Amino acid sequence: MEGLRLAPPQPTLLHRTETVLRTSFIGPHFTKKCIAHRIRVSVSKPTAEVSSPTLTSSEDTVASSPSQGFVVAPSDRPRVSANSLQYPSGYLGAVPERSVDEGKGDVKNAMEYLTNILSSKVYDVAIESPLQLATKLSERLGNQVWLKREDLQPVFSFKLRGAYNMMAKLTKEQLEKGVICSSAGNHAQGVALAAKKLGCNAVIAMPVTTPEIKWQSVERLGATVVLVGDSYDEAQAYAKKRAKEESRTFIPPFDHPDVIMGQGTVGMEIVRQMQGPLHAIFVPVGGGGLIAGIAAYVKRVSPEVKVIGVEPSDANAMALSLHHGERVMLDKVGGFADGVAVKEVGEETFCLCRELVDGVVLVSRDAICASIKDMFEEKRSILEPAGALALAGAEAYCKYYGLKGKNIVAITSGANMNFDKLRVVTELANVGRKQEAVLATILAEKPGSFKQFCELVGPMNITEFKYRCSSDKAAVVLYSVGVHMVSDLEAMRQRLESSQLRTYNLTASDLVKDHLRYLMGGRLNVENEVLCRFVFPERPGALMKFLDTFSPQWNISLFHYRGQGETGANVLVGIQVGKSEMEEFIQRSESLGYEYVLVTNDSNFQLLMH
Ligand SMILES: Cc1ncc(COP(=O)(O)O)c(C=O)c1O
Repeated sequence: MEGLRLAPPQPTLLHRTETVLRTSFIGPHFTKKCIAHRIRVSVSKPTAEVSSPTLTSSEDTVASSPSQGFVVAPSDRPRVSANSLQYPSGYLGAVPERSVDEGKGDVKNAMEYLTNILSSKVYDVAIESPLQLATKLSERLGNQVWLKREDLQPVFSFKLRGAYNMMAKLTKEQLEKGVICSSAGNHAQGVALAAKKLGCNAVIAMPVTTPEIKWQSVERLGATVVLVGDSYDEAQAYAKKRAKEESRTFIPPFDHPDVIMGQGTVGMEIVRQMQGPLHAIFVPVGGGGLIAGIAAYVKRVSPEVKVIGVEPSDANAMALSLHHGERVMLDKVGGFADGVAVKEVGEETFCLCRELVDGVVLVSRDAICASIKDMFEEKRSILEPAGALALAGAEAYCKYYGLKGKNIVAITSGANMNFDKLRVVTELANVGRKQEAVLATILAEKPGSFKQFCELVGPMNITEFKYRCSSDKAAVVLYSVGVHMVSDLEAMRQRLESSQLRTYNLTASDLVKDHLRYLMGGRLNVENEVLCRFVFPERPGALMKFLDTFSPQWNISLFHYRGQGETGANVLVGIQVGKSEMEEFIQRSESLGYEYVLVTNDSNFQLLMH
């Protein structure tokens, strides 16, 4: 594919923040040339001599390089894949083994958590968010589903609670020296707003890939934004190093008692607001700060109420850690719900969760999209994926256990939606609700077969249809249908099958939904074609680096990218690699450093593209 060998005209996947170099706080491993493109630095003056900055337990993941730069030291936690722990949607898994006496005795300073939550000053900046009944959803599920509207907070998420709670406890001297944090999302806005309220200087380190809209909203709150590093880990390493150098207080996003206590005020409000017996509270889990805080409060005052974590099935670091009885690190993490895309949960948050939470429900990307739609229909609000996670978990749990007549609470934790993501959300929401199915049927390539197919599909509403003649004998059509009742879909499948029209349900395949449905019609049997899904980092040069790795030695036979508002660009690539060169190909793919997975043998690829 010749076009890819040329310098790319900045396709969407390479869009980036305009960056301007103003001063010289730069990791030494960047060359002058790349600095101008990669780092936007507005450095506030260092303020004082060293005072011990408040650093989190994950401090040990950062090391200084000999040349005073920042590097991210590899974590020594066991590395596991998200796939190693999967269970049906709605099932309460990862139920922790309590270390002591049903979880009542082992967490140190349990009373301290309770009293601190009760006396927290978060209301200087946060509101007591309403607890609202979701009427339509309640009716549909046969339970009273209550929404704890943290998406209505100033800055549109609960994160300001924890940040403010920690910062409000700093001494005058510490506040004068300023604070620093690293975040590409809601924590950044929380820290910025808290700093504004407390009149202190805040520096926020964000990866260079952070969308402009996010870093601008932080800057508008008066904080100094530093765009630095390609990943969150690098931005964090920078922030921790600078905290030491400038004696700023590092404000961690989740793993600090004061942050956890601040988030715990959500639990306190629920207990106060809820009339009548409460069955369970569903809480989205990233690093675990929100759920640890809620559990620390609720399990002390109402131990009968279940506190249930919800994670995306490809970002299940807490479920895996609880399952293994120790903190583990995900080898890769799904980025769709970016607010909870965490590879490793916190140390303090893990200890609290192991003692106090009831387990973790896992949900799919489709289910999260369906819950965003539910919320829109319910309250005309648009939640970000992490913000809708708990609702998806609550719904799945009610269905899985056939729960009826109970009060359940789901925390709608944030509404900072990346607008570009809405396209994917609308595409997948009906699939997530099981109201749309993606199918493929094999027809004979002869006159009249299309008409016969349409007659058999009958009354089903077709929402998508793809067909292109590609062989003399058989044709594959890819299509989606609206589904009112599962039995309608099954009846249609039987009609097709009884007329010898082989039909496949592809609804569960992300490969089909993300890529193959857009590639239909380009079928050709390409020799030695290896198919891979790569996650390209969204930075200038990512595509050229990829091409330098494989081209011109191997021909690129397929390339598909569709922006989904994610941090990494999800790209499907076909490359022609001879069998004898496979080992070298794998080595090169590894050295490229982008996450990738081989999908050549995926049966849906074989069906649709061969
Ligand atoms: C919207 C939203 N929901 C949930 C979470 C998860 O919170 P925690 O990291 O405390 O588990 C975050 C974290 O930033 C978030 O932004």
